[in-house]
Amino acid sequence: MQRKSLIAGLAVLAVLLAACQTAAEPAAGEVEVFSWWTAGGEADGLAALIQVMDSENPDLQFVNSAVAGGAGTNARAVLATRLSADDPPDSWQGHAGQELIGTYVAAGEIQPLNDLYESNGWLDVMPETLIPLISQDGNIYSVPVNIHRANVLWYNPEVLASNSVAVPSTIADFIAAAETLQAAGVTPLAMGEQWTSMHLFETVLLGTVGAETYNGLWAGTADWAGPEVTQAIDNFSQILAYTNSDASTLSWDKAAQLVIDGDAAFTIMGDWAEGYFKAAGLSPMEGFGWAPAPGTAGLFQFLSDSFVLPVGAPHPEAATAFLTVAGSKSGQEAFNPIKGSICARTDCDPALFDEYLQSAMDDWASNTVVGSLTHGVVANDNWKSQIDTALGLYLSDGDAAAFQAALVTACSDAGTCG
Ligand code: GAL
Repeated sequence: MQRKSLIAGLAVLAVLLAACQTAAEPAAGEVEVFSWWTAGGEADGLAALIQVMDSENPDLQFVNSAVAGGAGTNARAVLATRLSADDPPDSWQGHAGQELIGTYVAAGEIQPLNDLYESNGWLDVMPETLIPLISQDGNIYSVPVNIHRANVLWYNPEVLASNSVAVPSTIADFIAAAETLQAAGVTPLAMGEQWTSMHLFETVLLGTVGAETYNGLWAGTADWAGPEVTQAIDNFSQILAYTNSDASTLSWDKAAQLVIDGDAAFTIMGDWAEGYFKAAGLSPMEGFGWAPAPGTAGLFQFLSDSFVLPVGAPHPEAATAFLTVAGSKSGQEAFNPIKGSICARTDCDPALFDEYLQSAMDDWASNTVVGSLTHGVVANDNWKSQIDTALGLYLSDGDAAAFQAALVTACSDAGTCG
């Protein structure tokens, strides 16, 4: 009799425990989240995500520790200082791919989230192709909140029309269009500080060498010393000649503003620029137009913002509550239409997204997908920073041969090229 009631009691306990695991209790206290979303569009997207978190966890206070500076240039330096002082926030923004696996996981700084994936059924709704980029040895290390496209050419439709310039699709077309615009006194291509030139370089590299060689360069199966890379650097240098002279002093959004104002015709930027254009009151195809960056039609150069659970997070339960919202359908449907990205989840309602974002969804599903360098997919921090140093030198001395030689060395130092 006693034994029966013990078994019954254990069964009830098991049911209760299972219920606790699936229906997460609203969390309380505070959760400090670290990102670099401070510009128009990206900050608004974050605010929308926070709103969903607030409504699901009314007693949880979101501490927004965003540090300004696109692509995380400043934020990631601040984060590194905090991590070396054993002072992690509760969660931080990290890119899927080598930034995550080859940097934070390699340094033992973040925790596996397999239980969270299990309890939320995320393996059924996150793209199968994304999971390997956030996993190592069967452990999944982050919660992707979106998919961004890096290789987008944004333009001011009025500026193109008034100069009788068609939207270019090849690099040669782009250079011809840029000549016409420059002769008319319009800056052809708006660019900003150094990371935006790395962003430009990766799209020109892809547009020059194509997807197979581009992937091979990051996998050690294509030749950084070869003629295709030489050609890419040459194309890059020609295109740089059509950028604004104050580029190094502008943030990515200030460069996008030149296009809004009609002072520049184009900018090549990830689709967070779409969030910026919309935050500035423009609508797709009226205030701004888009096309794949020159030479990259049919290719989707992607990146994904994701959030992590640090080792030693001060408020792990609150962090888990935030991550749960970041991975949820309601969280992603609130965040992405404003951010200028599409959901990482595959079950968001397309009707919530505008014309540009619906086109991005179609392309994400049908194009050849490759990863971004500047935004953490294809190279870890060490490799990327070596490329960044070489790029900085190239921007000041214009020595193409030295730049290419440094790219060769960076690949071999990374252990990828023999
Ligand atoms: C990227 C990030 C985007 C956007 C952009 C500009 O690295 O993935 O979400 O924030 O920087 O800040």
